[in-house]
Amino acid sequence: MELSIEATVRLNNGLAMPRLGLGVYRAAPGDETRRAVLAALEAGYRHVDTAKYYRNEADVGRAIRESGLPRESVFVTTKLANMDHGYDRARRACHESLDRLKMDYVDLYLVHWPVETLRGESWAALESLAEDGVCRAIGVSNYTLRHLAELADHANVVPAVDQVEFSPFLHQRELLARCRAMGVQLEAYSPLTKGRRFDHPAVRAVADRHGRTPAQVLVRWALQHDLVVIPKSSRVERIRENARVFDFSLDAGDMAALDGLDEGLRTSWDPTDAP
Ligand SMILES: NC(=O)c1ccc[n+]([C@@H]2O[C@H](COP(=O)([O-])OP(=O)(O)OC[C@H]3O[C@@H](n4cnc5c(N)ncnc54)[C@H](OP(=O)(O)O)[C@@H]3O)[C@@H](O)[C@H]2O)c1
Repeated sequence: MELSIEATVRLNNGLAMPRLGLGVYRAAPGDETRRAVLAALEAGYRHVDTAKYYRNEADVGRAIRESGLPRESVFVTTKLANMDHGYDRARRACHESLDRLKMDYVDLYLVHWPVETLRGESWAALESLAEDGVCRAIGVSNYTLRHLAELADHANVVPAVDQVEFSPFLHQRELLARCRAMGVQLEAYSPLTKGRRFDHPAVRAVADRHGRTPAQVLVRWALQHDLVVIPKSSRVERIRENARVFDFSLDAGDMAALDGLDEGLRTSWDPTDAP
């Protein structure tokens, strides 16, 4: 499919997932989140990434209802919090998330973090939730190569998605290649480096050449690597700006310049040492 704001990827279970989504980590619960989601839906986003941990699932659900869009036209992701691991607890936590969202199903339910010893049990719970139809797809987040290999040893269902930090400054080539080989869609969080590399000369140079902003260049880079990408903003102008990335493209030289910027930058957390 040609890249547009409606563009989707086909997950390994056949579900279509929009390539661009709005992240709402650190969007304050209440009006801030509600307004951000409404602005995003108005701008054409059809995908929102929340989590129990973000404490704003209720506001995401409310904004989607207020938008008047049919439920099935918006892709909603939420996540299993670290405190809720284990078979029964994970099942209950998913239903509690659905209650807060006031939805019958989520499109994607992710294990937020590879919590030691309990993650296997939790995955079995997610498989059962998918079977029940309350999660259209299930996946993981912050899983490294090692965590994915461990999961592959006992899982009945291959995760549809691995959501990890990914940007030119954390260019996880090996993980991306492995995910592709396994049929796992890689989803890039903190794709803007939380703004920390907007002033990098190489990013600036590409942005200036195209008359775009550093944020737009970083979103476009992720899209051109076939990732799903979920930039966060609570500001209407920036929400729109981050989605105006479908009327220009980065050429091979731009991509090569950005591809070479890896410095292992993690702006959130580092799962490489998670046992
Ligand atoms: N699974 C996980 O463990 C995990 C971890 C981290 C993030 N995530 C997900 O990924 C999403 C995105 O990651 P993130 O929130 O860490 O970081 P990000 O999207 O890289 O950056 C967000 C920051 O950049 C600012 N910003 C956004 N657009 C901008 C623009 N056009 N110009 C200037 N500044 C701009 C935002 O401020 P304003 O809001 O003030 O505009 C915010 O401070 C999260 O919201 C969450 O949904 C998941």
